[in-house]
Amino acid sequence: MMTETTWQTHAAALAATIAQEVNLSEAWRAAFEQTPRHRFVPDVAEDQAYEDASIVIKTIHIGGFDWPVSSSTRPSLMAYMLEALQLQEGMTVLEIGTGTGYNAALLCNRLGDDALVASVDLDAELVDAARARLDALGLHPTLTALDGRNTTTLGQTFDRIIATAGARRIPPAWGSQLNEDGRLVADVGGGTCPRIATLTRQPNGDLRGRLHTRPGWFMPMRPNAAHPHEHPGISPTPIDQDHAIETTTLTALQDLAENEGLAFAINWYMQPEMITDLPADSGHGPGSLITFTDGSWVETTKTSTRYSGPNPHLNDLAQLATAWRELGKPGSDDLRLTVTPDGAHTLSAYGYECLWQND
Ligand SMILES: C[S@@+](CC[C@H](N)C(=O)[O-])C[C@H]1O[C@@H](n2cnc3c(N)ncnc32)[C@H](O)[C@@H]1O
Repeated sequence: MMTETTWQTHAAALAATIAQEVNLSEAWRAAFEQTPRHRFVPDVAEDQAYEDASIVIKTIHIGGFDWPVSSSTRPSLMAYMLEALQLQEGMTVLEIGTGTGYNAALLCNRLGDDALVASVDLDAELVDAARARLDALGLHPTLTALDGRNTTTLGQTFDRIIATAGARRIPPAWGSQLNEDGRLVADVGGGTCPRIATLTRQPNGDLRGRLHTRPGWFMPMRPNAAHPHEHPGISPTPIDQDHAIETTTLTALQDLAENEGLAFAINWYMQPEMITDLPADSGHGPGSLITFTDGSWVETTKTSTRYSGPNPHLNDLAQLATAWRELGKPGSDDLRLTVTPDGAHTLSAYGYECLWQND
């Protein structure tokens, strides 16, 4: 059992590690120093709880595989998002994805008033366990078991929303539950190229803001507590190398591996299964491999592009890569995102109205 002094030493060391990566304010440093993470991840050795690593707390066995469905997020990522939230004294905050309850504890510590903190998780079992851990520390935020994509049943609006489960797109409920000027921090885009987004609620109800180059890599929001993610059961579709066709029409795509902004755009608009880097020593690299769930794939390097499968989306890939080039090759942090109250999402860059025709 860790003594008070021991865990506090570990927590201070964790805060110092976080500060090497994130511009950590005094207020958040204090919250990390004063919150006992080991109490939220009881199944790992106590000192391991203070490593800057994510810790899985629940898996679901489907299709012969233990899918992780809940974890305590890597603390430095948490700190990055908490700083991006720009939380101030007296503000109300809603967290999507209670998980262990550790982040809710950090929010309570930072605000000094549990009544300002609400957190929801799809999984009632996790919510009950988190509540017990928080109660034991004398913390009583409002925890509710519900689908974080529809939080309107909470019947309350907030100054801040932080989503710690991945959202391909922003659910309309989040915009409607932010007060004017309220701020949302979430990991958007999904797939293999998500990005942190910081959006502010405008007077007309739109959410508007920017993307960061940093991915959250959060577990995607799942439709119900029994399923691991949006498309349960999929594992990477095997690719058919024997019938690959060489093409010269996709030159716009050839620097994909070096441009995270293009990878994000392809992931955002076309929602492939995966975009994978091909290392130089892979026999085909350096380059990128885009795979689709129907088994189609496109492999692109500096000098060649090959594809196979029923629908490798060649025209769309060519058009999108050309549009992205003509705009000036925006990186993720050059992109602006607008989400209207009816859920329409528009990506723009450098003042142009949209990145691609399919917006
Ligand atoms: C990375 S964990 C959250 C970590 C948490 N903030 C912490 O401090 O431990 C993601 C959580 O999102 C939850 N989740 C997944 N889909 C959800 C949904 N549709 N609505 C609400 N929560 C969801 C999962 O059950 C999981 O606990």
